[in-house]
Amino acid sequence: MTGVRSAKDFFRPLAVGAPEPLREIPARPSRAIHFFDPSNAKMAAKVPTMVGTVDVLLGNLEDAVRADHKEAARHGLVEIARSTDFGSTQLWTRVNSLDSPWVLDDLTTLVTEIGDQLDVIMVPKVQGAEDIAYVDRLLAQLEARAGLTKPLLVHAILETARGVANVEEICGASPRMQGLSLGPADLAADRRMKTTRVGGGHPGYLVRQDPPRTADGADVDADRTTYQQDLWHYTIARMVDACAAHGIYPYYGPFGDIADTVACEDQFRNAYLLGCVGAWSLHPRQIEIANRVFSPSVEDIAHARRVVAALHANGNDGSGAVMLDGKMEDDASLKQCLVLVELAEQLAERDPDLRALYDGIGVDA
Ligand code: GLV
Ligand code: MG
Repeated sequence: MTGVRSAKDFFRPLAVGAPEPLREIPARPSRAIHFFDPSNAKMAAKVPTMVGTVDVLLGNLEDAVRADHKEAARHGLVEIARSTDFGSTQLWTRVNSLDSPWVLDDLTTLVTEIGDQLDVIMVPKVQGAEDIAYVDRLLAQLEARAGLTKPLLVHAILETARGVANVEEICGASPRMQGLSLGPADLAADRRMKTTRVGGGHPGYLVRQDPPRTADGADVDADRTTYQQDLWHYTIARMVDACAAHGIYPYYGPFGDIADTVACEDQFRNAYLLGCVGAWSLHPRQIEIANRVFSPSVEDIAHARRVVAALHANGNDGSGAVMLDGKMEDDASLKQCLVLVELAEQLAERDPDLRALYDGIGVDA
């Protein structure tokens, strides 16, 4: 493919002294990516108390941080990273966009000052592989300067029409690519969609039941049921396919209506069912929603374990087919069940409450 290094060179460091790129992106739990503004003293003070309650804490430097607070946010993040023990909670950042006056200093300061504590750098408004190539080389140079031994990973926000058109090449542009998030607000603006909401559905985007038939045609004025549709279905599905094809992770982004915890849960669950591993949290109450929604349920795990056991019963090797509760289960449905069982195992390694929950499930449940 044009612009992409030969397979032989793909995993070579891009600067002398930079760490070796990873060959596989670790599947670390990241159900909720909780955003905080490091220039906001109240929010910053809460960060240490949130360690252990959320999979990812993200110091946001981009949108939602005022232009005259950009430097305070950058330095605030350096201070927080230096004074906090994050334990197994990951520390991510979202830097300013590549065309902004702040991003060069964001990357230079953060990588050289706290690069050993950062796990993932989220890059907004990514348009194509060329944006990732720029960040990739710059990070390698800065990693070498800082003497880092672990490569920084990159997460792109899918929030421009061109970015969506180039989603596959973005995912494959660098071994640093960790994942993608849907950015519904910027994407709506860039595509000239007519919703002004930050994520979530829209009551105008619907389908309507057919009109009842009458002797002379149809009664179009009769009461008819309408069904609201998901504005984001197409983009999330494209994002999930591109990420799965490249061994990286897809995320739903922000849900701006903080008070509507019910619709937030619905939107997160749609993303989970389609293949996403997590979502952003803009308020502590969204952390609980994401942690619950992006962890397999007891019912799912009980069922998955039953299928695994049934296909391995009587010395069977998991191949072939069996009937369970009147339903056919075979090699393919075994793989579906293993997705849930493996995810539960990864999450339980980090979360003792989930460990207890999943360990308490019998195969016969
Ligand atoms: C997130 O950054 C968005 O634009 O929705
Ligand atoms: Mg955005």
